Amino acid sequence: MNNVDTLKRAAAERALEAVSSGMIVGLGSGSTAIWVTRLIAERLQDGRLTNILGIPCSSMIEAEARRLSVPLTTLEEHPHVDITIDGADEVDPQLDLIKGGGGALMREKIVAQASAYEIIVVDHSKLSPILGTKWHVPVEVIPFGYGSQQHYLEELGARAVVRHRADGTVFHTDQGNIILDCAFGVINDPVSLAKKLKRRTGIAEHGLFIGIANELIVADTDGIRQIKRGQPF
Ligand code: 5RP
Repeated sequence: MNNVDTLKRAAAERALEAVSSGMIVGLGSGSTAIWVTRLIAERLQDGRLTNILGIPCSSMIEAEARRLSVPLTTLEEHPHVDITIDGADEVDPQLDLIKGGGGALMREKIVAQASAYEIIVVDHSKLSPILGTKWHVPVEVIPFGYGSQQHYLEELGARAVVRHRADGTVFHTDQGNIILDCAFGVINDPVSLAKKLKRRTGIAEHGLFIGIANELIVADTDGIRQIKRGQPF
């Protein structure tokens, strides 16, 4: 494991202290949150945890959970999730987030909104004074007429680029939608921007997670910091 992976695992390990036997757990997506699924699998195997049911936030995490025999459920069977642990691409001092670097923003937001408690695990590189400083906003749009949404996003001030995979093909989400990565620059009023994104038909979801995270766990080279919403960074 390289240094960054060690930090990601350490953040996930700390977050896991909030998980108890019998819980319904939202399994976040990405290279940090995947550690949560792996650590839950370890603890189910050695008996430190029992009776956990996971709700994966992406097909990628679902595959990993199945590979590791973590029992899964759905929001149809269990509409109330006790806790979700997920990653983020950028976090501001209010614990508002940009997510969707891995393209799972829609399922991540659905599971987060169904959760009584949302913990975000990151390494220190994700901290930011103001959203948009480090990351673009991923916007998931349905393929039909997406050029119209691209134009709308550009009118809002973004450079909106269709996301591609490394092999040059267009990226499709788990829902079969496409992603427009929107460089807005620094976002002074994320609440207002989120409203403008939400009201446009054809935009399925966006990567601004406002008022959703209850707690942030940051892994730094000199240790782990645990910050609750309302506390300073
Ligand atoms: C996926 C996400 C991820 O949580 C986010 O991209 C962070 O990923 P990583 O931990 O790999 O940096 O939002 O849609």
